Amino acid sequence: MNVKTHWDKIYSKHSFDQLASFQPSHKLSLELIETSGLSKNIKIIDIGGGDAIFAELLLDKGYTDITILELSDEAIKKAKARLGDKANSIKWIQGNVLDFSAFEEYDFWHDRAAFHFLTKFEDIQKYKKVVQDSLKQKGKIMLATFSELGPEECSGLPVTQYSESNLMKLFAPELHMIRWQYYDHVTPGKIKQNYIYSCFSKPV
Ligand SMILES: C[S@@+](CC[C@H](N)C(=O)[O-])C[C@H]1O[C@@H](n2cnc3c(N)ncnc32)[C@H](O)[C@@H]1O
Repeated sequence: MNVKTHWDKIYSKHSFDQLASFQPSHKLSLELIETSGLSKNIKIIDIGGGDAIFAELLLDKGYTDITILELSDEAIKKAKARLGDKANSIKWIQGNVLDFSAFEEYDFWHDRAAFHFLTKFEDIQKYKKVVQDSLKQKGKIMLATFSELGPEECSGLPVTQYSESNLMKLFAPELHMIRWQYYDHVTPGKIKQNYIYSCFSKPV
């Protein structure tokens, strides 16, 4: 089964608040955006945004230029139905981040729990290239991935685990790591999953 079919199946069987990644507040992601000193009209892209409520929280906070890039049609269909009219304030792109060719440059790239599903070296390198090509100068990227203390697989797929040093090495020298933090996410099934939230900046 290809990865898209896999995620479509997951979204057709489960509601957004039943997925292991479900988070009602997206507190750390919002904090990282709010403290980055960027205005409310920055261009934000959320990779693998799925049917998560992150984009809705951004809209509620007054951010006006939000794009969701998501592999699963099913996730996009469900998110649009849940959001109603608010969905029209978001730009939706269905596709694989590895094939993404941005037609605008972003100030803030957000990826919570999508990047860690890339396990092949060449795919990880491709992702890095897509990020570099999509970010404005001084743009920022925030990744939330499983840490080395986190799960080895999720939603039936293997993942890559990260530490601050391997993330720093991976994105250097093109991107500078400016912040990181470990975080225990508690799934709807009350299981702890350790994440590392990291933030990078693209130098001028
Ligand atoms: C675990 S969910 C996380 C959803 C959301 N970001 C959150 O924080 O709850 C992973 C999401 O990434 C999407 N995804 C996985 N691989 C992808 C890829 N290569 N390109 C774009 N989206 C992808 C999946 O369809 C799914 O919606």
